[in-house]
Amino acid sequence: MKSEKINYKIYDSQLLAVKTIANNIINAILEKQKLNQHLVLGLATGNTPILLYQEIVSRYKAEKLSFKNVVCFNLDEYYPIAKEAPQSYWAFMHHHLFNHVDIPAENINIPDGKHPKEHIKIYCQEYDQKIKQYGGIDIQILGIGNNGHIGFNEPGSSFYSRTRMIHLEYDTMFINSADFSSLKSMPQFALTAGIATILEAKKIILMAWGSRKAKVIAQAVEDSITEALPASILQTHANCTFYLDKFASSELSSIKRPWLTKSVQWDKAMIKKAVIDLCFLLKKPILSLTTQDYLENGLSELIVELGTEAYQLNLEVFYQLRDAITGWPGGKDTTLPNHPERSHPYPKKIIIFSPHPDDDIISMGGTFIRLHQQGHDVHTAYQVSGNIAVHDDFVLRSLELINDYNKLFGNNNQQNEATYKAQTNFIKSKSDTQFDSSEILKIKGIIRKSEALSTCRYVGIPDKNVHFLNLPFYETGKIEKNAPTQADIDITKKLLNDVQPQQVYCAGDLADPHGTHKVCLELVIKALKEIKQEEPEGWIKNCWLWLYKGAWQEWAIDEIEMAVPMSPEQVVQKRLGIYNHQSQKDIVPFMGSDSREFWQRAEDRNKDTAEQFALLGLTKYSAMEAFVKYNF
Ligand code: F6R
Repeated sequence: MKSEKINYKIYDSQLLAVKTIANNIINAILEKQKLNQHLVLGLATGNTPILLYQEIVSRYKAEKLSFKNVVCFNLDEYYPIAKEAPQSYWAFMHHHLFNHVDIPAENINIPDGKHPKEHIKIYCQEYDQKIKQYGGIDIQILGIGNNGHIGFNEPGSSFYSRTRMIHLEYDTMFINSADFSSLKSMPQFALTAGIATILEAKKIILMAWGSRKAKVIAQAVEDSITEALPASILQTHANCTFYLDKFASSELSSIKRPWLTKSVQWDKAMIKKAVIDLCFLLKKPILSLTTQDYLENGLSELIVELGTEAYQLNLEVFYQLRDAITGWPGGKDTTLPNHPERSHPYPKKIIIFSPHPDDDIISMGGTFIRLHQQGHDVHTAYQVSGNIAVHDDFVLRSLELINDYNKLFGNNNQQNEATYKAQTNFIKSKSDTQFDSSEILKIKGIIRKSEALSTCRYVGIPDKNVHFLNLPFYETGKIEKNAPTQADIDITKKLLNDVQPQQVYCAGDLADPHGTHKVCLELVIKALKEIKQEEPEGWIKNCWLWLYKGAWQEWAIDEIEMAVPMSPEQVVQKRLGIYNHQSQKDIVPFMGSDSREFWQRAEDRNKDTAEQFALLGLTKYSAMEAFVKYNF
C-alpha cells in the first residue's frame, strides 16, 4: 500500500469539517487578541471555502466577536480584472466575508487585477514583502484545483516561486469559465502567491469536498513530490492538514482498500469492491483469480472469514455483474431472473429528470433512446433553464437570424427593429462587470429550451412529454443560486403526480458539494418522499428511482446496479442527439490539454465503462451507460 505523507481528517459532511476549521481560526484570532497581536490569515476563493466563510460570519454575528486584529492576504486574483467585476476575487471575498465582519479595510490584501502590467513584478515583490512585514502568514487556507494547483500555481510551477503573474492552464480556464458570460471576458492570466510564499505559512489548512477532488487528493497525499502536481509539495510542510469530506477522501488507499489497514465487515458490497479491485490490480478477469491471488494481495481475511475458495467468491461477484447488464432498462416483457428492473407493468411510464437541458442525452442518451424505442411512455423534465451557460456570441447569432427572418418575410416593423437593436446593443456594450438583463436571460433560456426540445424530437418522444420546470432557485442570473424552497419541491411534485411514473431517472451527483445537480437531485428525492408520506399506498408504491451520473464522472464499477450496453450504431445515434445542443459547443475555442467536446467526453466515458466490464471478463460491448438504484 502507498504511504500517506500528509495528515488528513475525514468528515461525514462539509459542514462538520468547516465547523472545526472555523473554530480553529476563531480561537487563534481570540488568542492573538488577548496578546494584543495581529492574526495573519492567508485566504482562498473558489467554491471550496464558501461554507467556511459562512460559518465564520455566523459565529461572528452570534457571538458578537470582533476581527479587528485580523490581517488577510488573499492568494490570487484574475488578471486583468476590475475589482467590481462580479467574477473578481475581490468581489467574491467581500460578498462572502469582508462585508459581514469588522476586519479593517486597510488590513485586507488582495492582488490587484488592474495593476499596470509594466509594474507588476515590483508589485508582486511588494506583496511578498508585506506578508513578511506582518511576520508571515499564521494560518493559510487552501483549496486544490483538479490539476493539483494551489493558489493559481499551475502544474509546472517552481517550488521556489514567489508571488507573480501566471498564465492559467486550460483545465482551470475550462472549469472557471463557467463564471464568465462570454469567452472574451475570461481572463487568461492571474496573479498568485507563489509556492514558496505558501510554504512559509506557519500552519496550512487545505480543504476539499466532493468526489471530483478525490483523485488529486490521493495523488497529493500518497504520490511522490513533483512540480507536475503542485499540492504534493505540501508533504514537506511541518504543519499541514487536509480537511476532507468522505467523497474527497474516497481515492485514498486506506479508504479505497480499507481491508489493507483494518479489519472490515465483509458484506456483499465490500466483497464486490474487493474482488473487482483485485482484478484491476492484477489485470485479470474475475473468473481467473486464484486463491493465491487473494492471499498475496491482502485479502486472506476474506478467504479465511468466509471459509471459502476463490472459485466461489469469483462466481458470486461475476454473476452480480453479469445480471446488471441489460438492454432492457425499463424491464423486459417476459420474466427474467435477477433482472435489475421489474418486468411489469410493461410498458412503463417514465420520467427522466435532467438538471440542465442537456444532461439527459449526454449522460444517459443511449438508455433514453432505448426506453422510447421499447415502447415506454418516456417524459423528460428539464429542471433548470441553464440560461447562464450560453455565451453572448451565440445570442447575437440567434438575434441576427431572427432579424434576417423578419426582413425576409417583411416583419421588420419598427417594434421588431427596435427590439433587435436594443438587445444587440446591450450585448455589444456589456462590460465585464455587468450581469445579463432579464430579457437576455430569457433569450438564453429559449435557446437552451429549443435545443432540448429538438433532442427530444430526435429521440422521438412527443412534445407533450417534454417538461420545462424552470425551477425558481436557479433563476438568479448569476453563478450563485438561491436556496431551494418549497416552491421548487411543489413544481417537481406536481409533475410527478401528473405523470405517476413507475420509473424515474435522476442525475445522482450527491457528492457534488455545490452544484445545481445536487440541489436538483435533492429536490426530486424530497418531492418523492413527501408524496410517499401523503399517499403511501398510491402510485409511489411502484415507483423506482435510478441514478445516472451527470457531468464527466461515472459510477465505480462495484457500485453499478444496471449497465446498459450500446452498439457502435447506438453510440453514433447518441452523438447526433448531443449535437442538438449547439450553444454548448462554444467552449471549444480554448485550446489546451483537454479540448474534447461534450459528445467526445460522453463517448470516452461510456467506452471506458464497457472496457472495464470486458477486463473483468464480461462481454465486450462498444459502450455502456451505468445506473445505481436509490431507495427513497
Ligand atoms: C482560489 C485558489 C484556487 C482554488 C482551486 C479550487 O483562490 O486558490 O487554488 O482553491 O482552484 O477551486 P474550487 O474551490 O472552486 O474547487
